[in-house]
Amino acid sequence: MGEFINPANVPKVTLYTGEQIPCVGMGTFGSDRFTPEEVSSAVAGAIRCGYRLFDCAACYGNEDQIGKVFQDAFEEGVVDRKELFIMTKVWNDMHERVEESCKKSILDLQCGYIDLFFIHWPFPNYHAPHCNADSRNPDSRPFSTDEFIRTYRQCEALLEKGLIRNIGISNMTIPKLEAVLPLMKVMPVACEMELHPCFQQQELFDYLVAHKIQPVGFMPLGSPQRPERDMCQEDIADLQQPEMKKIAEAHGCHPALISLKWARQRGQIPIPFSIYEAEYVSNLRAMTEDPLTEDEMKTIATLERNNRLVKGQVFLWEGASDWHALWDEDGYIVK
Ligand SMILES: NC(=O)c1ccc[n+]([C@@H]2O[C@H](COP(=O)([O-])OP(=O)(O)OC[C@H]3O[C@@H](n4cnc5c(N)ncnc54)[C@H](OP(=O)(O)O)[C@@H]3O)[C@@H](O)[C@H]2O)c1
Repeated sequence: MGEFINPANVPKVTLYTGEQIPCVGMGTFGSDRFTPEEVSSAVAGAIRCGYRLFDCAACYGNEDQIGKVFQDAFEEGVVDRKELFIMTKVWNDMHERVEESCKKSILDLQCGYIDLFFIHWPFPNYHAPHCNADSRNPDSRPFSTDEFIRTYRQCEALLEKGLIRNIGISNMTIPKLEAVLPLMKVMPVACEMELHPCFQQQELFDYLVAHKIQPVGFMPLGSPQRPERDMCQEDIADLQQPEMKKIAEAHGCHPALISLKWARQRGQIPIPFSIYEAEYVSNLRAMTEDPLTEDEMKTIATLERNNRLVKGQVFLWEGASDWHALWDEDGYIVK
C-alpha cells in the first residue's frame, strides 16, 4: 500500500451551512486523454491515500466506473459513505430533466445521495462530445434568467427529496449571479470556477465570498494537458512562470504544489486531476505541510494575466460575436 495521509490532518473549509469539508478534492475529468478505467483506478488509489472529496460530472463519461470503485471501498471497509464528499453536475442537455440526471449519477456512482450537486453551465447549450471549437449548435441561445431558475428550482426540489445535500453553481459571472440570487429559495453553498495563478477572477471571487458562497477552483494547475479544443496560442502556462518556478525551488517541490498551496491559502478549494499516484499523493500532502510565506502569496497575486483557458466557444449561439460574450465582461448579461 502507498502513502496514507490521515484525512483528519487535511485542513477543512467551512460552508455557510456550518459543514466542514476538505480543502482539496480530486478532479475526475480525463480531458479526453485518459480512459474511464484509468480515472477510476486513480480514484481508488486516492481514497486509499486519504482523499475524501471528489469532483465528478455526468458529462465526464466515467461515473459508472467511479461508482464501482466507491462501492468496493465501502464493501472493503476502507471508508464509509458519509466520510466522502461527492460532487457531481447536471450537464447542459438535461436542464429540463434534472431529477433524471441526478438519479442516474446516484445510480452510476453507487453513492445513495450527492453531497453537492452543481449546475455545470448556466445555460442549456449543448455540444456533442469531442466536437471542435468552431462548431455551433443551432439550438444554442443566450443566458436566460427564467430558464436558469427553472433548472435551479428542480435542484431545490432534489434537496427536499433528500437526493442531494447541497446545491452548487458553476461557470457563473457577477451579472448572472445578480439576476438569479434574489430568486433562489436556498442559496448555493459553492461556485465551481476556473482559478489558477494567471487567472484569479478576483472580483468574482470576492463577490462569492461576500455572499458566503465557497469558490471551488477548477484547472488549479492551469490544466497543462487540457483537450486541444481548449488550447489557444495566446494561453499562458501558469506553472512555467519564472516566479512560480523560483518559489517552487525555494520549497524544493514542483510548481504544481505551489499553485495548490496558493489556492488553499487564498481560500478556494482546488480540485487537481492526475492519474499518477506520485502526483495525486503529493497534491494532498502539499495541503498539510510547508505553507507559502506572505511574501510568496503576494508575488503570486501579481501573476494575474486574465488567462482564461476554458473559453466556452462551443456553447456560443448563432450570431454571438465571440467567446467573450459568454462571460459578461462589460458588466451586463450579453444577449
Ligand atoms: N466545472 C467545470 O466546468 C470544470 C471545467 C474543467 C475542469 N473541471 C474539474 O476540474 C478538475 C481539474 O481540472 P483539469 O484536470 O483540467 O486541470 P488541472 O488539475 O489544472 O491539471 C491537471 C494536469 O496537471 C498535471 N499534474 C497534476 N498533479 C501534478 C503534480 N503534482 N505535478 C505535476 N503535474 C501535475 C497532470 O498532468 P500529467 O497528466 O501530464 O501528469 C494533470 O493532467 C477536472 O478534473 C474536473 O474535475 C471542472
